[in-house]
Amino acid sequence: MNRVDGKVAIVTGAARGIGRADALLLVQEGARVVITDLDEAGGNALAASTPGIEFFKQDVRDEARWETLVKDTMERYGRLDILVNNAGVIHVGDPLTSDRDEWRHMFEVNVEGTMLGCKHAIPAMITSGGGSIINMSSIAAKSGLYFFTGYCASKGAIASYTKAVAVYCAQNRLNIRCNSIHPGGIDTPMNAGIEQEFSSRISGMRLPAQSPVAADAPKMRYGEPNDIAYAVVYLASDESKFMSGSELYIENTSTITAAVVA
Ligand SMILES: NC(=O)c1ccc[n+]([C@@H]2O[C@H](COP(=O)([O-])OP(=O)(O)OC[C@H]3O[C@@H](n4cnc5c(N)ncnc54)[C@H](O)[C@@H]3O)[C@@H](O)[C@H]2O)c1
Repeated sequence: MNRVDGKVAIVTGAARGIGRADALLLVQEGARVVITDLDEAGGNALAASTPGIEFFKQDVRDEARWETLVKDTMERYGRLDILVNNAGVIHVGDPLTSDRDEWRHMFEVNVEGTMLGCKHAIPAMITSGGGSIINMSSIAAKSGLYFFTGYCASKGAIASYTKAVAVYCAQNRLNIRCNSIHPGGIDTPMNAGIEQEFSSRISGMRLPAQSPVAADAPKMRYGEPNDIAYAVVYLASDESKFMSGSELYIENTSTITAAVVA
């Protein structure tokens, strides 16, 4: 019940999905949590129904907003211990059908948003005596999900950036850890409707169920947001004090399952 007792967290993109589950579990384990999102209605609703959660509207691409968000958090709570760079977006596109504006959108939100979060949280964490940064990557960082080329590239960038931040913090003795989490498919609004988008954007797309080999194989099972939130609590807590620069894959074998190319 008290695994992150007394700690103060910022969780981005927490109006719904994985970020929402992260915020709820962090509060349950004793943290006070600032959630941010573009979605004002969703963020306000979660804060109104959950003591210990406060909502601030934020676009993670906006550097000036990061500055005021961290300043306001320090003024109101006196410290910052945990940052979950969770906000993310996805677009479908293979190497021939990828759209450049959609790539830019993914890189701005997923990669630059994460970079800005680390840049502005680290000084506040130094003032607080240390901290834990958790960057939400994906199995896409190392799986060849060719129908998500830009998403794969952006999540790979998050994984390598995470290691650079971790080493910077370690070498400067900042007592700040930085790790990435790599979820497999999780049942959230992000995934709703994505299969329809495949068929309209990717020609010849073979979902596993359409392949001869996998016709009678078990269907893919999505994980739940809490499957990721438990890992967030572990990385946010002092239980993981010897863990920094790591990639934590939570994906029920999906990265070690043989691809079906038949
Ligand atoms: N769901 C999955 O299968 C899955 C798998 C691997 C990784 N992830 C990653 O986990 C994270 C959360 O995913 P989810 O499935 O909960 O997604 P989701 O789409 O359900 O929720 C994402 C939230 O981020 C917010 N957001 C989007 N752009 C933003 C911006 N510019 N500024 C602030 N907030 C913004 C959205 O409003 C939304 O509330 C993402 O980084 C995603 O890439 C998800």
